[in-house]
Amino acid sequence: MSSVINSERIPNNVHLGDDRKLQRALEAWQPRFIDWWKEMGPEGFQEDQVYLRTAISVDADGWANFDYVKMPDYRWGIFLADPVKDRKIGFGDNMGKDAWQTVPGEHRNTLRRLIVTQGDTEPASVEQQRLLGQTCPSLYDLRNLFQVNVEEGRHLWAMVYLLHSYFGRDGREEAEALLERRSGNEDKPRILGAFNEPCNHWLSFFMFTYFTDRDGKYQLLALAESGFDPLSRTTRFMLTEEAHHMFVGEKGVGRVLKRSAELMKKNSNGDARAEGGIDLPTLQKYVNLWYSVSLDLFGGEISSNAANYFAAGIKGRAHEERSYEDHMALEGSMTFDVPTSDGRFEKQEVPLRTAMNEVLRQEYVSDSQRGLDNWNKILRKEDIDFEITLPSTRFHRETGIYAGMHFDPEGRLLSAEEWEKKKADFLPTEEDETYIKSLMTKPIFEPGKMANWIAPPKKGIKGRPVDFEYVRHDAS
Ligand SMILES: [Fe+2]
Ligand SMILES: [Fe+2]
Repeated sequence: MSSVINSERIPNNVHLGDDRKLQRALEAWQPRFIDWWKEMGPEGFQEDQVYLRTAISVDADGWANFDYVKMPDYRWGIFLADPVKDRKIGFGDNMGKDAWQTVPGEHRNTLRRLIVTQGDTEPASVEQQRLLGQTCPSLYDLRNLFQVNVEEGRHLWAMVYLLHSYFGRDGREEAEALLERRSGNEDKPRILGAFNEPCNHWLSFFMFTYFTDRDGKYQLLALAESGFDPLSRTTRFMLTEEAHHMFVGEKGVGRVLKRSAELMKKNSNGDARAEGGIDLPTLQKYVNLWYSVSLDLFGGEISSNAANYFAAGIKGRAHEERSYEDHMALEGSMTFDVPTSDGRFEKQEVPLRTAMNEVLRQEYVSDSQRGLDNWNKILRKEDIDFEITLPSTRFHRETGIYAGMHFDPEGRLLSAEEWEKKKADFLPTEEDETYIKSLMTKPIFEPGKMANWIAPPKKGIKGRPVDFEYVRHDAS
């Protein structure tokens, strides 16, 4: 196995050429993927030269090459992290046994479902974001959007490789179906709810990459622990790509905050909107929205499926070896305040394995908070007395024990009437959406220039200046 990626028709580091049957199957899938990309990828930029990074090795340092490429010519391929010699399963009932190099029959359906569900989110996000280029706040941001998009396409390849290699005919059928579903389509929607919501504007894009891509990070971390070794190796390399997506979100929101602060100081009433910027209470509502829909992606707090995945060695905890001592998790429990039908809360103690979704979610919560701390630092530095906060994990949930009820961002139970009265303070309204979109009606293609509502980045990409021509766009 090599850390260097070869340049066959499908770039790979898995010796694809040694397996003719698999190679032919994937080469038959490749043009269908390109068709999907041209139909559902970024609209209006397929002929442009974009300054993108492409994986050329899976080494921890120096794995990427940066150069201009037309997106349909991007070198999508199959890259697995190097194998760990004699790797053992690190948790659950199979702890200490050899990691599986093929799919165990009894876990075939479960693994296929997990891989398909993960795989489905990748093209879904490209579809959700396909119109954003037309309102880009700068060439720098346009390039970052496209980098995220091509890598989500690469993540689809990663899952399709597993389906083709290890799941026979039904794997191949699933790989076809991944190109047939469409985000937001009523007849053939994407699998998970959050991936059928349109990503209408750049504020939502930055929130999505900060909060929803971070859910992706935690799902990948949990799958990187998997006893199914090819899945572990695939997801380990995906994580290196994923880090950039969350960077785009964190820095993007940070730049919006910086600009809002500047505009507030410029305005005699401290009103960022009056200066054509995004006011902080509205920005907080978008935090509330994208954080809460991303929390749902972790699944229910109390989950026998999660317990079974852990027991079998299919899905572990984030950094299982490093962060936990007891890898069996047979002892210990988690206690939840479960709402009752008459509006009280009852303590319910749940065995730890059954609470694994919540264990992963809590890691996500503290990881999310770190970015908010940085955002609040930006506001303090600008002398703005406002703090961005994460709402309670009860707020605006559609899965788990708090679904179907109403809570305010502090986690206090609200009646349906109270919710109706207050929800416009908590979540973006139609009017907020209209306002945000009104700031982003035209794209900015002039190198180095920024839209009024966002501050420039401190640095460019890969040592290039901020006013570098990251996308060569022929506007005619
Ligand atoms: Fe991804
Ligand atoms: Fe991502």
